Amino acid sequence: MFSILGAAIRRRPFTSPVHTPLLLQRLIIILNNQRTVRKMSAIAKRLEGKTVVITGASSGIGRSCAFEFARTAPNHSLRLILTARRIDTLKEVAAKIKEEVGAGVQVLPVKLDVSDPEAVRNFVPGLPEEWRDIHVLVNNAGLVKGVAKAPEILESDMNVMFSTNVTGLINMTQAILPIFKSRGSQGGSGDIIMIGSIAGREAYPGGSIYCATKAAVRAFTDALRRELIATRIRVMEVDPGQVETEFSVVRFYGDKAKADAVYAGCDPLTPDDIAEVVVFVAGRRENVVVADTLIYPNHQAAATVMHRKGT
Ligand SMILES: NC(=O)c1ccc[n+]([C@@H]2O[C@H](COP(=O)([O-])OP(=O)(O)OC[C@H]3O[C@@H](n4cnc5c(N)ncnc54)[C@H](OP(=O)(O)O)[C@@H]3O)[C@@H](O)[C@H]2O)c1
Repeated sequence: MFSILGAAIRRRPFTSPVHTPLLLQRLIIILNNQRTVRKMSAIAKRLEGKTVVITGASSGIGRSCAFEFARTAPNHSLRLILTARRIDTLKEVAAKIKEEVGAGVQVLPVKLDVSDPEAVRNFVPGLPEEWRDIHVLVNNAGLVKGVAKAPEILESDMNVMFSTNVTGLINMTQAILPIFKSRGSQGGSGDIIMIGSIAGREAYPGGSIYCATKAAVRAFTDALRRELIATRIRVMEVDPGQVETEFSVVRFYGDKAKADAVYAGCDPLTPDDIAEVVVFVAGRRENVVVADTLIYPNHQAAATVMHRKGT
């Protein structure tokens, strides 16, 4: 009987069962409710009411993460705090998210240079009160500069990579952790998701400093997970292989032709591919920690092992 009713409702929901007997009316209400419940995915329910901070949300993987969180839980009072140095770009991202998913997701663009320790210290106190109850931190902001080998590496490139990828990420973590640690009765809860890299697992020539920064992220992440073992705080790392973003344009100081050559003959990942994994790990049941993930495109098998079409 339930399946017959279900089929009828799927064809045409009963919205005004005025002439229907009482018992049947009750069954119709239950089945219509079941239809609504079924529409809400488990991941959307788990993200309900959460506040997510994404660093480096003006481009590439961070930008895609913002859209993916919003698309996954569009009607669930999600709050997204999008940070980067390019505030105008963040405002455009915020407007596009609103246009796409509507008012169920609130977006707050915040100008923040993670390499500036004072700016990071002022980040949480500078947020409006109702945005401070942060549940998820996606530590994504990062960059690579140049392909120089020692002893030709520019000191300025070295400094910007370490202050963004390493101390920036650590300072952000330290800024948010007290919020997590004060939540609940079990030592705290919340998610810290680090965007590492295959470069943190395998060093390659011409990438020594970038690889060193991502290896540092990996060591910090592993130590932090151990330090927080008695809490409900999840520390997770997502390591992409080759992804086509502004990453290579930044590496070659704005030279688009050199950046395009990196991907010639390859079929790289898209930033959306990584964002799907980030939202997946944040959306697992609270007792599930997807601690460590390595993601390659199909043509890649190591940091420098790629198949290029035509070679
Ligand atoms: N693309 C790849 O192949 C690849 C592979 C493995 C790992 N990753 C990692 O993925 C992360 C995202 O990179 P992506 O590929 O998406 O590159 P992207 O398109 O260049 O995006 C980098 C983001 O980081 C932000 N950023 C850079 N320096 C910052 C700073 N000092 N303060 C705040 N934000 C800063 C940029 O925003 P503003 O310029 O507006 O500040 C931008 O939003 C990085 O950690 C990168 O190391 C990338």
